[in-house]
Order: sequence, then structure tokens, then C-alpha cells
Amino acid sequence: MKILVTGGAGFIGSNVVDAYIDAGHEVVVVDNLFSGKWENINPDARFYLMDIRADEFMKVLEREKPDVINHHAAQISVPASVEDPRFDTSVNVQGFVNVLECAREAGVKKVIFISSGGAIYGEATEYPTSETYPPQPLSPYAIAKSVSEDYLAFYRHQYGMDYTVLRYANVYGPRQVPHGEAGVVAIFMDRLINRKPCTLYHFEDQPLGMVRDYVFVGDVVKANLKALEAGGGEAFNIGTGVETRTRALFDEIFKAVSSRVDIPGGLAEPATRHARGGDLTQSCLNVSKAEAELGWKPETGLAEGLARTLDWRLAR
Ligand SMILES: NC(=O)c1ccc[n+]([C@@H]2O[C@H](COP(=O)([O-])OP(=O)(O)OC[C@H]3O[C@@H](n4cnc5c(N)ncnc54)[C@H](O)[C@@H]3O)[C@@H](O)[C@H]2O)c1
Repeated sequence: MKILVTGGAGFIGSNVVDAYIDAGHEVVVVDNLFSGKWENINPDARFYLMDIRADEFMKVLEREKPDVINHHAAQISVPASVEDPRFDTSVNVQGFVNVLECAREAGVKKVIFISSGGAIYGEATEYPTSETYPPQPLSPYAIAKSVSEDYLAFYRHQYGMDYTVLRYANVYGPRQVPHGEAGVVAIFMDRLINRKPCTLYHFEDQPLGMVRDYVFVGDVVKANLKALEAGGGEAFNIGTGVETRTRALFDEIFKAVSSRVDIPGGLAEPATRHARGGDLTQSCLNVSKAEAELGWKPETGLAEGLARTLDWRLAR
């Protein structure tokens, strides 16, 4: 199969590209390197340094004729979307509509779209939250993800273009970046390795920090393999269903890093600061639909995933 991965130089997209190539697929990457990196780009993929908003994107599709587009490219920061909603919309809504229009014109059969289970449900009352819970986005980033899912339903209804939505929880692992939804893993790990103090963001009534669902990138990649063949017209939560407070995450990372690096004991107590704009108090995903319909389930626990992330980080 020929697959075009937007954002394939980024943290998650590049891991997906590697897995698609390992599985024998032909892969094309489109990325403007806004947050992606040259070093992440698989040498066996054909790479176009290009913005998804560009008119030239159509020329790439005409030339490459992919069967599937896997759309990872995005402005990924929730706080940045609150500070500059115009920019967020230009990449995450207009950029995506450009991808869809070009895909339609080029006869692309399916789009795999990366949404955010960690953002679109807002302060959900169903918890862990399943896909039937109506999206209640509380940031421009989350609004853009939610409306993008509506566009996919429109393109399927109007033009018969198939899609699968993967709603990620907070993803961490090798090649992780500090700006994304699980950026806290990269930040805590990098700061502790460099023997710098950490800061824990929290709401007044949650001194141990917010609750999140941390899923390892290696597991997320497997969901992208499944979505090539299954899950047409559906959205799936891709997480673990396991709740982790920021303080527990910090302690786990501190334990992992201090077993490999000599860290002053004083750093075991992070400073605290009030939550930022767009932050949610809790988020955790029910992933039973992905298990039943995609045949996917998470396999990597937090301690193991953090150890593998630390191996990668220390090898750099
Ligand atoms: N990291 C998480 O925890 C998480 C959670 C939920 C959803 N997601 C989604 O997963 C996807 C990948 O995120 P990531 O964490 O790997 O972040 P990332 O920043 O590493 O990846 C995004 C990639 O998109 C590229 N890009 C950005 N704007 C572009 C544009 N206009 N044209 C072309 N390329 C552009 C960047 O250069 C980068 O390579 C995003 O859609 C993000 O919203 C991530």
C-alpha cells in the first residue's frame, strides 16, 4: 500500500512511518519541520519539505497517488492554541481542509486522522470516557480536532471517502517533544537528567496535579497499522484507561532517572504552579471499543515505557 504521512518528521508521525515501512508499505512524508526534525525522517520514505496549507500539496498527491493519507501534522500545543487561536485554526482546520480537498480530487481512498481523546471530551462526566460521550472541547486546539472529525464525516457522506479517527490520550516515548499533550514526560525527564528542578502545574483542589492517561508511542503505532485495514467511518480512543496524577508521574520518572543518573535528593520535590489556560482537571480514556473493533489494546505499562524512553534519551 502507498501511504502519505503528514507530520511524518514529528514525534509520533515518524514512529508511524518507521512501522509502515517495516511492514512493507511505500511511504511518502510531507512535513514543514515546524516542530519535526530531519533526524526523525526515515531514509526509505520520500520526503517533501512542505506546508499542508500550500497549493503545491495537490501536486504531491497527483505525483504520488497514495492509497491512504495518515494525517499527523498539526499545531500541537493546547496553551499555544489559547494564546493564538488564529494560527491554530490556520494549521489545524484550514490546513486539514486543504488536505481533504486535495485527497478528494486525487481519489485517495482513506484518511486516518489523529484526534485527541485527551482534549476533545473537555471536563467529561463519564469517566474513563468512551467515544459515545459528546465532545465538549474547551480549547481552540480541541475545537479544531472536534470540527476536523465533522469534516471527515462530511467527506464520507458526500464523496464516499473513508476515514478512521484515532483519538490519542497523552502519548510519550522515544522522539517525544516538550510541547505536546504529554510534553510533561519530556520536560521532567530532560530537566532531571540535566539536574534542574521541575515544576508541577495543578488546580487549587488537586495538590498532586491533574489526572492523565499516558500511552506509550510503540502501542500508538500499532493502532495506526490496524487502522489501515479496519475501523472505517469510526473514531477510537487510543489510551490505557489507567489514571496517573502528575505527581505520581514525576515520582516514577524521578525513580527511573535516579537509577541511571546521579541526581541531588533536593530535586525529588518539584515546585508547584497554578494550571495554565486550556488545562483540564482530569482525562482518562475507555479503550474497549478499540479492543473490540480494531483488535488493538495497550501492551506497555508506564514503568516499562518510561524505561524505554529513558534508554532512548540517554543514548542521544
Ligand atoms: N503527543 C500527544 O500526546 C498527542 C495527543 C493527542 C493527539 N496528538 C496529535 O498527534 C499528532 C502528532 O503530534 P506529535 O506529538 O507527534 O507532535 P510533533 O510536533 O512532533 O508532530 C507534528 C508534526 O507536524 C508538522 N507540522 C506542523 N505544522 C505543519 C504544517 N503546517 N505543514 C506540514 N507539517 C506541519 C511538524 O513539523 C511535526 O513534524 C498531532 O496531530 C497531535 O495533535 C498528540
